[in-house]
Amino acid sequence: MQNNIISGLFVGQNLVTLKEVDSTNNFLKSILSNSKPVPDGTVIMAESQYAGRGQHQNTWHAQPGKNLTFSLLLKPHFISPTQQFDLTRAVSLGVYDALQPLLGDDLKIKWPNDIYFGNRKLGGMLIENMIQGGQIKNAIVGIGLNINQDNYPESAGSAISVKQILQRDYDLKDILSEICSHIEGWYLKLKAGKTDLVRSTYLSRLYRLNEASEYRSNWETFTGTIKNVVDNGLLVVERNGTEEQYNLKEIEFLNK
Ligand code: BTN
Repeated sequence: MQNNIISGLFVGQNLVTLKEVDSTNNFLKSILSNSKPVPDGTVIMAESQYAGRGQHQNTWHAQPGKNLTFSLLLKPHFISPTQQFDLTRAVSLGVYDALQPLLGDDLKIKWPNDIYFGNRKLGGMLIENMIQGGQIKNAIVGIGLNINQDNYPESAGSAISVKQILQRDYDLKDILSEICSHIEGWYLKLKAGKTDLVRSTYLSRLYRLNEASEYRSNWETFTGTIKNVVDNGLLVVERNGTEEQYNLKEIEFLNK
């Protein structure tokens, strides 16, 4: 599949389902380093990951067979590395749009790319961009979503599943296919230069946008209000009347 496709489904057309793997991101990375080319839009899905990886070097736990754990390969040569957060926006919007018809407006994107229902985490992403020659050569988009799991240990923090919200099971492949087609839609908007639309829609779906809430930065707790996400992805929070910008490592969201 070439990168010049502008219509027709290519995301997820090439789907590989694995019974068990360490991490679908690792698997995709390892097949990319083999000689055979891997088509743009390839999806590797696993029933079970024994070393799933999350943000901040965390481990991603998901009960086997009950959740979506997959990685998608994109070749966003048209996005410059300085604008790579636009890919995060497009993918987050794709996941959001696939789930919103089921879950309604309590669904939000928690900056930078978690999927929240109310104050609870429904899923997250680990996007690993491989930059070469001033271009994003490959983007490995790892997505974990809590779908049919019945309960979570205390250690899982605020985790919640679609089943806990809607009291029924969902077909994982059906949800995966919705997600792939919505990601493709937003990805192609980016490719068509509709960056402003991607950025403004992402902002409008943001968890805690314009709401005064508690945060921690530099071991200090403060009340702040999310105002924006700048082009390169930094979070803009109003704090004591001034707007400060934070990267992922610099700010922690505290519970309300
Ligand atoms: C987060 O910490 O919120 C990100 C979680 C990302 C988990 C997914 S599951 C599929 C893919 N493979 C991994 O090892 N991680 C991502």
